[in-house]
Amino acid sequence: MSGSEGRKMWGGRFERPPDASFYQFERSWQFDRRLLPQELALDRAWARALTAAGILSADECQEILRALDSIESHAKSDPHWLDTSEAEDVHHFAEMALIEKLGPLGAKLHTGRSRNEMVATEFRMYVKEAARETGRAVASLMRAVSSQAQSNLGIPMPGTTHLQHAQPLLLSHWLLAHGEAFARDAARLASAARAADVCPLGSGALAGCAFPVDRAALAGDLGFSRITKNSLDAVSDRDFALEMLFALATLAMHLSRLAEDMILFASPEFGFLELADEYSTGSSLMPQKKNPDAWELIRGKSGRIYASLVWLLTAVKGLPSGYQRDLQEDKEALFSAHDQALEASRVAAGALAATRFRPSRLLEAAQDPALVATEVADYLVAQGVPFRQAHEIVGKVLRAAEQEGKSIRQMPLERLKEFSPAFGSELSTVLTLESALARRSTAGGTAPGAVRAALADFNTRLAQLEENP
Ligand code: ARG
Repeated sequence: MSGSEGRKMWGGRFERPPDASFYQFERSWQFDRRLLPQELALDRAWARALTAAGILSADECQEILRALDSIESHAKSDPHWLDTSEAEDVHHFAEMALIEKLGPLGAKLHTGRSRNEMVATEFRMYVKEAARETGRAVASLMRAVSSQAQSNLGIPMPGTTHLQHAQPLLLSHWLLAHGEAFARDAARLASAARAADVCPLGSGALAGCAFPVDRAALAGDLGFSRITKNSLDAVSDRDFALEMLFALATLAMHLSRLAEDMILFASPEFGFLELADEYSTGSSLMPQKKNPDAWELIRGKSGRIYASLVWLLTAVKGLPSGYQRDLQEDKEALFSAHDQALEASRVAAGALAATRFRPSRLLEAAQDPALVATEVADYLVAQGVPFRQAHEIVGKVLRAAEQEGKSIRQMPLERLKEFSPAFGSELSTVLTLESALARRSTAGGTAPGAVRAALADFNTRLAQLEENP
């Protein structure tokens, strides 16, 4: 069997069956079978709507619903049935199965509806669920961030810009910086779920439905909160999928940036953390190796997830109004991005939770006097020196210290006074890591109190996410 079964949905006007290789080319069953649960739910809702509209009798409706139940259990218990089906797509599969069970009654269910609206509806149902599922994975990742931030509270680290030592930070502050990015991802995913939560069913092929189906009831039956406003737009709009893909692409980018930090921090040059055995691999040649493959793969996944966004944007950009078969290209793009982002989020959550940070190494690195250079300038500002001048003076002090092979903390007061009479005490007494941290106490800053408050705030938002998965 190749094209002959495929013709059953639309073969009437054709004299000859499709070319076998073309049939394989145009089929979507291999991938849209993933939508079978959504297809069967839609079929049930449509049977009820046709019954309410007087097109099916109550008995016919019951028979159809029973047959759909048995198709569902058959599909669950016998994957071989799905694997070997030659159906054109998921809609064709369900219709063939229904007709096989019910004969002519099965052939009544397609009254007044089109695959164009069915696929748009089922895809929206899938995206809604996928966005929620990914949101739950992001919440677990945020939980891992929160636990690490909590158990490492108070540990300093060197903060960098341009990857050069800049100012000290608390490790928890760095963790929560990634946490905030993931919190935005969770919000974006929730917004993508809302964008998908509009029901196109009742739009027909493009012009609306000629039978008096109750669109609001159909939407409610399928768990949608709203109905689409224009039938022509409804069958060709894929904005909801693009919004989901953008949310996934941004999540992938954030995962990749976390991964990059983790990979750097695990290197011996940084040595800030120890990778978890459970999420690392060894080398087949070099016995000493413990490689950050989990994080490297997470970083590497971003490419194909972005590709899905570009793939769908490109597929839809030149389409005339209404459904075009190009739109069949939407599903694999989204399925792939969803699968990859979901797995990457789960692995990241596990790998982060299992990471052991090295407080002594972090503290040692945070003691670099260069990290408190801003403090020296601020110290001079407090003595009345204009900041721009203070910046210049400290630059000169630093250069001299470097030439003399000293750290800025080791410069005696008399030597400092040669650069500015405003120096009044040894810098070693004012230039502590603790005070550099403590002074940054504005909301969102890295002072211990500000970080504790930020963590509490983060935890409140996380708890809300976890309560409304
Ligand atoms: N398999 C198709 C898709 O995924 C279903 C809609 C087919 N509609 C059509 N007019 N050929 O888009």
